[in-house]
Amino acid sequence: MEQKVNPYEVQGKIDYDKLVKDFGIKRLTKSDLDQIKEIAGELHPYLRREIFFANRDLKWCLDEYKKGNQFFLYTGCGPSGPLHLGHLTTWIFTKWLQDKFDVDLWFQFTDDEKFLFKNKSYEEIQEWTHENMLDVIALGFNPKKTHFLIDTKHAGIMYPEAIKVAKKITFSTIKSAFGFTDSNNIGSIFYTAMQTVPAFLPNVLRKEKRPCLIPLGADQDIHFRISRDVIEKLGHKKPAIIHTKFMPPITGIEGKMSSSSAGAAILTTDDAKTVKKKINKYAFSGGQPTVEEHRRLGGNPEIDISYQWLRYFESDDDKLKEIYDNYKSGKLLSGELKVIIIDKINNFLAEHQKKRKNAGKLISQYIYK
Ligand code: TRP
Repeated sequence: MEQKVNPYEVQGKIDYDKLVKDFGIKRLTKSDLDQIKEIAGELHPYLRREIFFANRDLKWCLDEYKKGNQFFLYTGCGPSGPLHLGHLTTWIFTKWLQDKFDVDLWFQFTDDEKFLFKNKSYEEIQEWTHENMLDVIALGFNPKKTHFLIDTKHAGIMYPEAIKVAKKITFSTIKSAFGFTDSNNIGSIFYTAMQTVPAFLPNVLRKEKRPCLIPLGADQDIHFRISRDVIEKLGHKKPAIIHTKFMPPITGIEGKMSSSSAGAAILTTDDAKTVKKKINKYAFSGGQPTVEEHRRLGGNPEIDISYQWLRYFESDDDKLKEIYDNYKSGKLLSGELKVIIIDKINNFLAEHQKKRKNAGKLISQYIYK
């Protein structure tokens, strides 16, 4: 399947070298990582494992930080359905950045976007906005430094800035960037302007000039490819970006995890039995058809979803390496590897769901006022 990566479609086996070239972004270098380590004291496993792998202007952002000009973080969530592990991993890393750098995070919920792009009612999208906020809060972001922006609720402060952005982007740019046609609704054409605003709105509200750093899934890059120049023309600095790869779906390493296809994703609300069932039944295996062959030929961790997911959930490098080696040599069987990942995910989710239950009471602390 041909590689496709844009906010509305991710398909094929992703060639990240090609993506870096096509998007005009830069791989994270050793010196980028050293600079992060110098400030953070350590490197998050997602950086050590090249899960976060590319950037725009990260060096500038870190240089400013070292001079005392702290950046703010900006990321977001499109609330159109239940969240899955792929969503959470990006935000787990965002929380790490918030903690290590002790900075503000502006978190956008794009209820407008999902209403415009999905075949769902406004009311339904509002319910998902609420549900998704619970998951974000459960991850433990610092409530004093985290500010939720909900597009339709914060329209009063966002819209004046959004029209300034929109005025500098043509219909033809949007059409060719997203492959829109004359039958797209007119709201979807405007939407990129809304996603651009939080990259500089905090500076407008607080009369500051801080750099902005956006952790995002690489599929979201195009919005900012379009708007970084516009942001600069409006008198603000271009935001820096740090890109993550896609957590693969349960069915194999092509595309990305998505809630849209049933069974393909582990949802944040799945109970232990469901997780076990999904993984045992669907998780694509890099093992051999029989135990005898597996012992003789070994498994292939590169395509094995249980192993690939373990890279997100086993933070101990030595343990991960041992599992890799044992699987590759045939010592560890597919079924045994599945037991390991099921256990890891269920431990994580038990904790997450406990915090999620308590999150409703905290929402008002997070919403920007
Ligand atoms: N459009 C994103 C989505 O559908 C949500 C989003 C809004 C976002 N602002 C962002 C994602 C900034 C990353 C960075 O999920």
